[in-house]
Amino acid sequence: MTIAVQDLKADFPILSRSIHGQRLTYLDSAATSQKPAAVIAAELDYYQKTNANILRSVHTLAEESTLAYAKVRTLTADFIHAQADEVIFTRGTTESINLVARGYGDVHVRPGDNIVLTPLEHHSNLIPWQQLAKRQQADLRYIELRPDGNLSLESARQVIDSRTKMVAIAQVSNVLGTILPVRTVADLAHQAGAVLVVDGAQSVPHQATDVVAMGADFLAFSAHKMCGPTGVGVLWGKMAHLKTMSPVLFGGEMIAYVDRDHATWADIPARFEGGTPNIAGVVGFGAALEYLAEVGMDNVGAYMSHLGALAFQRLQNLSGVTVYGPGPDRGPLVSFNIDGVHPHDVAQAFDAKGVAIRAGHHCAQPLMHWLGVNATARASFYLYNDIDDIDVLVDAIESTKRYFAR
Ligand SMILES: Cc1ncc(COP(=O)(O)O)c(C=O)c1O
Repeated sequence: MTIAVQDLKADFPILSRSIHGQRLTYLDSAATSQKPAAVIAAELDYYQKTNANILRSVHTLAEESTLAYAKVRTLTADFIHAQADEVIFTRGTTESINLVARGYGDVHVRPGDNIVLTPLEHHSNLIPWQQLAKRQQADLRYIELRPDGNLSLESARQVIDSRTKMVAIAQVSNVLGTILPVRTVADLAHQAGAVLVVDGAQSVPHQATDVVAMGADFLAFSAHKMCGPTGVGVLWGKMAHLKTMSPVLFGGEMIAYVDRDHATWADIPARFEGGTPNIAGVVGFGAALEYLAEVGMDNVGAYMSHLGALAFQRLQNLSGVTVYGPGPDRGPLVSFNIDGVHPHDVAQAFDAKGVAIRAGHHCAQPLMHWLGVNATARASFYLYNDIDDIDVLVDAIESTKRYFAR
């Protein structure tokens, strides 16, 4: 592997914490990643030296702040192979998807049209579409999963039709680790005259991203899952589509001209960024992008695939453990249940050993229904995890099994 994990671990101050007297093993990066010192320092530095509102005043601080914010837009665009003015900063994936559903969906979706999803979507890529379908009297349709948790392309061909206006899918499932065939679905959507919205919350942090190669029309992702601060997200959209969208947040900085009875809109992307944004957070996100670029996203991608496959193989061989989702070709996470032990008890038992995992429905209740369970435990990895962490995970599972068997 081309990643020097031990060196990387040292970049993340929180990883030297102990929890209940044990070394922290952080296996919850799909919920939020830890932050390297460079990101924490960038935010602190911004507040200590630059803090001012952007796009308003002409004083030095304001100009520096505006430039710093703009620089991160360019960094973000480079990171996903897009144009800077196609990058809209939001609070996170959830807000990004709501913005497309409102701003694009309300303009383009008409009664009798349909919106196509999959059953594995995070609620953030489900409820905005349910609400859009209700507002516009449109139908929701689902591309079904195969029994192994992969997407059925046969089903995709059946449900996407000439009344499909929008298709919205995750690139990687936050529960199953399934990698979805985004390019193929993009082609099917485009043949039908629909646009493809990709939820990249669990993919952009873990692999090199090229929006053009992906074939997406919109891509949403969150800074906090990729070494960046909370409260910053991205909506990327093709400029031709952004031009047809209505703004959703009305107020300061998104206007060109206002009089008593009407207003006109600023250019894109400011049009979609009403109000004072999370400037310090965006600056911190810039440091995260630089950090990841330094490691190299191709390296990150190869390493994440390796850890995901390894964790899957190790857990699949354990007796009394059910592992969900497809085989080793998956995102860097593994959802599982231990026979007879509630996942919350599993997470509690792990915490006592300093191992942080997530338990619950993972904001994917329709997927839990599909799996026939109420909840699962989930261990998820990032670039600071290594094989030792997978050993710790396996040991924690074995000792939890023993404890609850007594
Ligand atoms: C696949 C997926 N989509 C969307 C989200 C929502 O992201 P955020 O809470 O940052 O808006 C998550 C978060 O876990 C996710 O895993």
